[in-house]
Amino acid sequence: MSDTEVFGWKFSKLINNKNYDFKRDKILDVCGEDNVLDAYEVISGWQNYNTTPLINLEKLSKKLKLNNIFYKDESKRFHLKSFKALGGAYAVQKITQGDKSTTVATATAGNHGRSVSWGAQRLGLNCKIFISEFVSEARADVMRNLGADVIRVKGNYEASLKECIKQSKINGWEIIQDVAWEGYEKVPKLTMAGYSVMIKEISNQTDKYITHVFLQAGVGGMASGAIAGIAKYFKRIPKIIIVEPETADCVLQSVEKGEIQKIDIKKESIMGGMSCGEVSLVPWRILKNAVNICVSISDDNIAKTIAMLEKKYFSNEPIIAGECATPGIISLIAASENENIKNKLELSDESNILLIGCEGDADENLYKKLLNEGIKELI
Ligand SMILES: Cc1ncc(COP(=O)(O)O)c(C=O)c1O
Repeated sequence: MSDTEVFGWKFSKLINNKNYDFKRDKILDVCGEDNVLDAYEVISGWQNYNTTPLINLEKLSKKLKLNNIFYKDESKRFHLKSFKALGGAYAVQKITQGDKSTTVATATAGNHGRSVSWGAQRLGLNCKIFISEFVSEARADVMRNLGADVIRVKGNYEASLKECIKQSKINGWEIIQDVAWEGYEKVPKLTMAGYSVMIKEISNQTDKYITHVFLQAGVGGMASGAIAGIAKYFKRIPKIIIVEPETADCVLQSVEKGEIQKIDIKKESIMGGMSCGEVSLVPWRILKNAVNICVSISDDNIAKTIAMLEKKYFSNEPIIAGECATPGIISLIAASENENIKNKLELSDESNILLIGCEGDADENLYKKLLNEGIKELI
């Protein structure tokens, strides 16, 4: 791509948070400062733990005339290929303390269950995973291969969660759920604290002050966990921009109204992990005041971005990025090509941007399909 060629990518929607008021103490209170500190201590002690790479997207920063663009590559997170490995597995360890008589249970669309299964396998615990009729057999097999007993439930995710809660009550299983509800907050907080490990690592990987961070959101666990990490580990607070699929912009709509809004998802986004209709209770307590801007994007440029990352358009090394790893890049490009938005976000040649590459080819078949589609668009 030449220096003058433009991408022509756009946001579907962009809003400012009129309730912005970033307070480190308040954020750390919600997540639990002790949890944040403990998560790094515990996870960094696990066998095969390695800091995931922070890749400089030099070619893209040159093209967009920004100082640095850092991409946290979670495709290298243990062998689970997604940041999710940090959440569920850490919660399993904290809740069970490795007691082998414990059985853990969760309902999942895939990636969280993979983390819980792995966490249970690491400690030699029994694990029950509840999935809806919409979760693929390939995803179920991954969890079976991690030693879990996978139970398929008729209906959607809500139905699988209901069945998980019912069976767990009857059998005395410990529920390890990443979403919170009234009276169930401890595990979601631990999960978020697990995600803050990404930020702790980044604070050791660069001495550049991050000026902007783009955070993807589904129910908001990843974004709020990262924000807790920022509150704890970053000296300066960057501008925080939340990115969601246009068909599932539950954080954007909630921030706009100042209270939780439930979205009726009419069309599922390719960004499956982010196709969520309601922000979770605990993350909301952080997100409502800590984010500056919320944006939404369509699925249009995902395949192309996956191909561009793999074909070294943005960096000097190939990057394996799944569908949920692309929205930060797409948003940054959309913002940089629009003078108004660029000014609003205060993006300049002094900006150091942080993007979270949430996942690699966690779903190998979907990755191959999107990569091939994207390569065709490049030609
Ligand atoms: C694979 C994957 N699943 C899910 C999510 C959403 O996480 P959460 O539901 O915690 O907001 C993301 C990123 O935001 C993701 O990359």
